[in-house]
Amino acid sequence: MSVAKKQYKRVTVKSLIEMKANNEKIAMLTAYDYTMAKIVDHAGIDVILVGDSASNVMAGHETTLPITLDQMIYHASSVVRAIDRALIVVDLPFGTYQGNSRKALNSAIRIMKESGGHAVKLEGGAEISKSISRILSAGIPVMAHLGLTPQSIYKFGTYTVRAKEEEEAKKLIEDALLLEKLGCYALVLEKVPATLAKKVADKLTIPVIGIGAGADVDGQVLVMHDMLGMTHEFNPRFLRRYLNLYEEMTNAFQNYIKDVKSLDFPNKKEQY
Ligand code: KIV
Repeated sequence: MSVAKKQYKRVTVKSLIEMKANNEKIAMLTAYDYTMAKIVDHAGIDVILVGDSASNVMAGHETTLPITLDQMIYHASSVVRAIDRALIVVDLPFGTYQGNSRKALNSAIRIMKESGGHAVKLEGGAEISKSISRILSAGIPVMAHLGLTPQSIYKFGTYTVRAKEEEEAKKLIEDALLLEKLGCYALVLEKVPATLAKKVADKLTIPVIGIGAGADVDGQVLVMHDMLGMTHEFNPRFLRRYLNLYEEMTNAFQNYIKDVKSLDFPNKKEQY
C-alpha cells in the first residue's frame, strides 16, 4: 500500500526537495549488498544510504573509522546493480575528505565513477565547507550530516544525544544554514532533541532527514540491520524494530542443523 503523494519512477535529488515542498515524508534506509538492496528498492524506499555503518554491521568494527574508500565502493557498486528506483547516497569514509578539499573531490569522484552511486554524504559543518564546495563544483550532489557524527566519536567520547546545550544547538543551526547555502541538497540530523530538529527543518528549504531527531523533520533514516532486528545488542530509544530476524534466523539455522544431524535433510524429493 502506497501513501506517496506523487509517484516517482526514479527518485532524484530534485524529487527529495519536491517531497519536502509537498509535505511528503522521505523514507530512507541503509543497504550494503545486492540482495537486500533489491528487496528494499522493490518495496518502494525513496533513498538508499550506503552508510559507513557497513564498518559496524558488515565488518564488525566497533566504530565507522576503519572502513576504506575501496570497501565503500565495493558495497556501493553491489547496491547500484540492484536498484531500479531509489536514489543511492554513498558515505565518504573517515579520512577521505577532511582537511584537504582536493582529496575530498578525488574521493567523491572515485565513488561516482567506480560505484555508479548518485550522491555522497559527508559528516560535519563549517570545518569541511571547502571540501563540500569543491565536490559540489564538480556537479556531485552532497548530503550533509550534523548532530551525532560517528566519525568524530573519539572527539565526543560517547554516542549520547548531541546539541542539548544552547551553545552547541546554536552552532548546529549555523552549520545547517551554511550547508544549505553552500548547495547541499539534504541534511541528515542524528540524535538531537526533537525541538531543535524541528527548528532546523523549519528554517531550511532542503529536506532534513532524521535519525533519533523526532517526527517534525522531512524524513527518517534507520540502519537496515537494526530495523529488521538482526542486531539485538543495540537498543537506542529511537529504534523501532519491524521484525525480530535475530530470533527468526536463529530458529531457521537451528532447524537446519537438527535436520542435517537427524538425516531428515535432504529427503528423497530433495535429491537427484
Ligand atoms: O552510516 C550510516 O548508516 C549513517 C546513518 C546512521 C545516517 O550515517
